[in-house]
Amino acid sequence: MDALHNQSLEQIDRDTVIHPFTPLKSFAAGDTPDPRIIDSGKGIRTKTTKGEEVIDAFAGLYCVNIGYGRTEVAEAVYEQMKKLAYVHSYAMQSHEPGILLSKKILEWAPDHMRRVFFGLSGSDANETQLKIVWYYNNVLGRPEKKKIIARKRGYHGCSVMSGGLTGLPFYHTAFDIPRGPILHTTNPHHYWEAEPGMSEVEFSAKCADDLEQMILAEGPETVGAFIAEPMLGTGGLIPAPEGYWEAMQPVLDKYDILLIADEVVTGFGRMGTPFGSDYYGMKPDLMTCAKGLTSAYLPLSASIVGERVWDVLQKGEDEFGLFSHGYTYSSHTACAAAGLANLKVIEDENLMDNVNEVGGYFQERMRQTFDGSPFVGEVRGVNLLAAIEFVADPDKKTRFDANLKVGAQLSAACLAEGVVCRAMPHGDILGFAPPLVTTRDDVDEIVERVARGVGKVTATL
Ligand SMILES: Cc1ncc(COP(=O)(O)O)c(C=O)c1O
Repeated sequence: MDALHNQSLEQIDRDTVIHPFTPLKSFAAGDTPDPRIIDSGKGIRTKTTKGEEVIDAFAGLYCVNIGYGRTEVAEAVYEQMKKLAYVHSYAMQSHEPGILLSKKILEWAPDHMRRVFFGLSGSDANETQLKIVWYYNNVLGRPEKKKIIARKRGYHGCSVMSGGLTGLPFYHTAFDIPRGPILHTTNPHHYWEAEPGMSEVEFSAKCADDLEQMILAEGPETVGAFIAEPMLGTGGLIPAPEGYWEAMQPVLDKYDILLIADEVVTGFGRMGTPFGSDYYGMKPDLMTCAKGLTSAYLPLSASIVGERVWDVLQKGEDEFGLFSHGYTYSSHTACAAAGLANLKVIEDENLMDNVNEVGGYFQERMRQTFDGSPFVGEVRGVNLLAAIEFVADPDKKTRFDANLKVGAQLSAACLAEGVVCRAMPHGDILGFAPPLVTTRDDVDEIVERVARGVGKVTATL
């Protein structure tokens, strides 16, 4: 109870907060379950104000990568805040944590990356990338080369432009998101998009051909960049099919189109490599990071700029003067301290090795347990990113009626068994992205509990 108002926190929440992705009217009227109010977290587990402890097998929104309750990060931020909580980074002003974090990010990033621009969210970092692409082509005297190709089912945020990049209509309708210079090419999901009998490699060649046809139809001189997650995330946790990046990159090179790798989920070890780009052998020109950069202890994003773009950005000064882009909180001092402390934990504890070891086991257990189970169409993933896709008829590949909300039922049943996983927003898909500190025993517990929850729902279908 809130002493002043004599109301429960749940009621005050309903009366005052606009939650993202929540049915506004039903929630405000009390026609939904109560908000789950989380009070504390330790390792991979969180506890509500009512004392219910669960395993967070989605690490918040795939961001609490080093797990909850890491006092190293809290202490680093506390020390930094006592000394200096914030200074801006405009006009050549700087501070030690921001400088050291830039250096550290470039150590993690591929060799050809040169500079880091800081923001606060994955969405704003992608907006920065678009502005950089447009600036780059203005400097090069190519004012037409501004269109951006993203992918159907890709996710890049939900601010105005980043929402347009996102290839899920659910994020556009009702908000008048300007689609202007943005196009969406083929979703790289072999399961749904490949023609019968097509191998993954053949399907990858088709994706590359679709991309090329789109570029030719628009005019290569009008296409500035292609943006993609190395492994598609919110659109369904879809690993790139075999040969995908090997087929896509030459098309971009052929038409002088920049590649923006959106590493917001895949950055800083989640796939067992520093970045998803390393996992797939991609050579991006720009990389977007957020989430795992601080493990969400404080908000921070990074737009990393590669050599080819950096060389041109510098030349922009002759024509445009200052690089006139930035936020009050670009390179926020305390957030940078959180980033440094977080990356130190990942390095000191060799968490990438853990991802490879425990992640491999996770994939194995998921496939052993769910492949061929009733209503399971596909079990997929890489290391600590996994999904189970449920369909009405696996033989005929037909989806459930969306009104049945099978995905939401499944995630609610898993929660009742003490595991948070995520009903992904497109299709009936349970997504998993446990913290990088997950152990083999944790994996066993997650898989067993999820199997119980799933079994209870599938028995009713
Ligand atoms: C790949 C990717 N890009 C961008 C974003 C947007 O990040 P934010 O929610 O911090 O704006 C997300 C968020 O889930 C993401 O998964």
